[in-house]
Amino acid sequence: MPHTLRHLALIMDGNGRWAESRGESRTVGHMAGIESLKRCVEFTAKNGIKYLTVYAFSVDNWKRPRAEVKTLMSLMRQFLATEVSTCLKHGIRINVIGRRDRLPNTIRLAIANAERLTRHCERLVFRLAIDYGSRDVLERATSNGMNVPIRQALEMAAHSIAGIPDVDLLIRTGGEHRLSDFLLWEVAYAELWFTQTMWPAFTVNELQQTIFWYQHRQRRFGGLPLVSGPVHVLENEFGNSSTGSNGLLAGMAIEATENDDTVGASIQ
Ligand code: FPP
Repeated sequence: MPHTLRHLALIMDGNGRWAESRGESRTVGHMAGIESLKRCVEFTAKNGIKYLTVYAFSVDNWKRPRAEVKTLMSLMRQFLATEVSTCLKHGIRINVIGRRDRLPNTIRLAIANAERLTRHCERLVFRLAIDYGSRDVLERATSNGMNVPIRQALEMAAHSIAGIPDVDLLIRTGGEHRLSDFLLWEVAYAELWFTQTMWPAFTVNELQQTIFWYQHRQRRFGGLPLVSGPVHVLENEFGNSSTGSNGLLAGMAIEATENDDTVGASIQ
């Protein structure tokens, strides 16, 4: 039976190489990357996926040339300001995870505004990771001296909304096979997909096909393959069920066809 996809994560790599291969500047690549992101967000919202987390700027991206960092910051600020109306139209809640203390004031304001204006939206939680690194989050969560459960401490350190489920599927474009300090805690049982496609060239069709692949993976969460028919969930001696926490088996498959760029098929 196909798996429900609740939480999708994206490492949007390859903007620079995509642009350079066309004789364009890296800025053009980042701008094209934003268009690709908008398509994926809309697809995600329209197809019943509840959580989307994307890597926009890592704690290590500050090492890039000043001019590129400035461009990225300015693009993120514009994106946050202009996408609010689209998000409101589609019921998308914006949430920015990562540190905020090193961001320019203008971005901090744009984040606060976008989060405030969309906080009532319930169709999709769209999390943008900005100045984000998993190790940084883990370090801050475990050194704040607060006596709260680790997951709650992580959510607080990352500025995340409480109760976001683990990542089901992580896609990285751009040909590299690594996680680059992204959601290390949350991808514990995620299915990982690496594609050679550069992020600006990543289409909704490729996303749809990757989701189709995900839905047919055998997910065991450390247990044994699940059989069809009634499932008897055994409790272990501590009273916890052993099939994973979120009942991911359910729903229908989407039909992924090679030339189908349409959105609207159900992925529940
Ligand atoms: C990687 O491309 C891309 C990033 C630094 C993050 C993704 C950024 C965007 C999609 C644009 C800005 C984002 C938002 C949300 C407004 P790269 O520069 O590492 O490409 P390369 O590996 O080919 O050099």
